[in-house]
Formats: sequence, C-alpha cells, structure tokens
Amino acid sequence: MSRTDRNVISIRDFTRKGLEDILELAQTMEGCRGEPYLTGRILATLFFEPSTRTRLSFESAMKLLGGEVIGFSDPGLTSLTKGETIRDTVRMVESYADCIVVRHPLEGVARYISEVSKVPVINAGDGSNQHPTQTCLDLYTIQKCHGRIDDLTIGFLGDLKYGRTVHSLAVALSHFGARMFFISSPQLRMPEAFLEEVRANQCECIETGSMQDVLPKLDVLYATRIQKERFPDPVEYEKQKGIWRIDLAALSEAKKSLKVLHPLPRGLEIASDIDGTPYAQYYQQAANGVPVRQALLCMLLEAGPCAS
Ligand code: CP
Repeated sequence: MSRTDRNVISIRDFTRKGLEDILELAQTMEGCRGEPYLTGRILATLFFEPSTRTRLSFESAMKLLGGEVIGFSDPGLTSLTKGETIRDTVRMVESYADCIVVRHPLEGVARYISEVSKVPVINAGDGSNQHPTQTCLDLYTIQKCHGRIDDLTIGFLGDLKYGRTVHSLAVALSHFGARMFFISSPQLRMPEAFLEEVRANQCECIETGSMQDVLPKLDVLYATRIQKERFPDPVEYEKQKGIWRIDLAALSEAKKSLKVLHPLPRGLEIASDIDGTPYAQYYQQAANGVPVRQALLCMLLEAGPCAS
C-alpha cells in the first residue's frame, strides 16, 4: 500500500473496487471476537467533537481484535488548552499509537493531520464536509438489506447542506449507478459541488421539496438530523428543526421493501413507531460500524487477513 492509501480522509480517495474490498472484508469480520489481529497495536482517538457511535465502535473494533485504545473525547482536558498546536499534538500521539482517528469541527483538519502524521489517519468527520467511514458502513448496510448496491433509488432527507454523511454517501453511490433524490428545504439544499460531482458520474440526481412525491420510488430513505451545531444563526435552526418528520402513516405509500437509514443521532425526523418495523435499519446500521471499522483497521495496519 502507498502512504496515501494508508489514510481514510475523503470518500473521493476510493474507487468502486476499493469500496467493494472494504465491504467484502467487513463481511469476514462479522462476529470476529478474540482473533489477535491487532494485538500489540494501539489506536488513538482524538475527538474534538461529541460522538457516541463512531468513537465507541472504533474502540470496540480495535479491542475485539486484541488492540488497545488511547485518546480523548474532551480536548479541553489536553495540553491544547495550554496553547499546544495540533501539529505538536500529532507529533506526540504518533509516537504513542499506530493509527489516529480524528473528528474535528473544521473541514480539512483530518487532511492536515494526515499530512503531518507518520502513522495512518482516519477522518471520523470533519465539520460539514465528509464522514467516509460512516459511508462504508452505510454501503455495507444497504448491501445487506437489498443484496446489492447497484441500481437503487435513494432519497436523502433533511439537512443536506451541513450533513457530512450525506455528502460522502452520495459521492460513493455515484460509483454504483444510483438514482438519487435530494429532499430538503431550500435553505438546506445539497451543496452544488457535491451535486456536480455526482452528476459527473452519470447519476440521475433530482432535488425536491416533497417527500411524498418521491417516497413510492425509493429503495432507501436516508434521513438526517438538522445539524443544530452547524447553524450560524440559531433563529434559522428553530425555523428548520421540525420541518421533516416521518412516521409509519407517512410510509403507507412506500415500497414494502423500503429501508430507512439514519446515521444517528436522530432529532424529530423519525417517529418511534417506525423503530420496530422492517423499514427501520438505523440500529443495525450503527451496529454494522464494528465489522466495517475492524476491516478498515486491518487494512490500514496491514494486519490479520491484510498482513503482507
Ligand atoms: N453517525 C455518527 O457519526 O454518530 P456519532 O456522532 O454518535 O459518532
């Protein structure tokens, strides 16, 4: 593997084949506990933003394969508060760990860290930009639900402007011939740069303000939270926060095979009466983070099935 391959920063760095390789390896990691693939290896989790699923599933993935985890989830308790730079922080952490997972509110910080780090770096979300490992588990979930990723119709709902999971997933799905509907208010539209990228891959791509019009066509509805923490104006967030809400009644026009995904945490957009139905895949989706991240760690650290 080249140095670049040993980082996971942007979904743009992956070919279709590269994504398929991750999903195939994730399948072999299902239920993989106690295999000593990562014994003696240490993962550092540097979380400058809150997280439940991403941080804990990386920790679980590492520990289930015999590895150890260090890190922080509150940068306020680190020497960054004494004025230490991120660069110097990384210079220290790379001597304590074999791989770094970073989440940061600013777009581009994960890329910067990968450029100064001697060990592989994984982007666990950089601002409103991307969340590539979430995309890998989203693709894995779609494949498990529908038996394929190719030629599906996907509706993205909610905060498409600030939703980094949507940005990464739309780009990834454009390698698989997806038809995509982007359902949002005018204020939270999908950024034009991502739309252009998806269209450049010859994918049908339609923006709409009406969920009910497109719902009967969908194989996957990918709902997202309105990202309160990204709004520069709290008044605008208050206007947007309750616009989208799907409940079981709203799905009456949907295909029986529709699967509802959500990166979680959810806000008001999915009612709890969907939770126990075959539509709901968001809990399983979060659980899929473990085998997918086990696969990514083995690939980056050239361990277990990926040992050279
Ligand atoms: N999906 C996701 O990124 O969740 P967390 O913010 O809890 O990590």
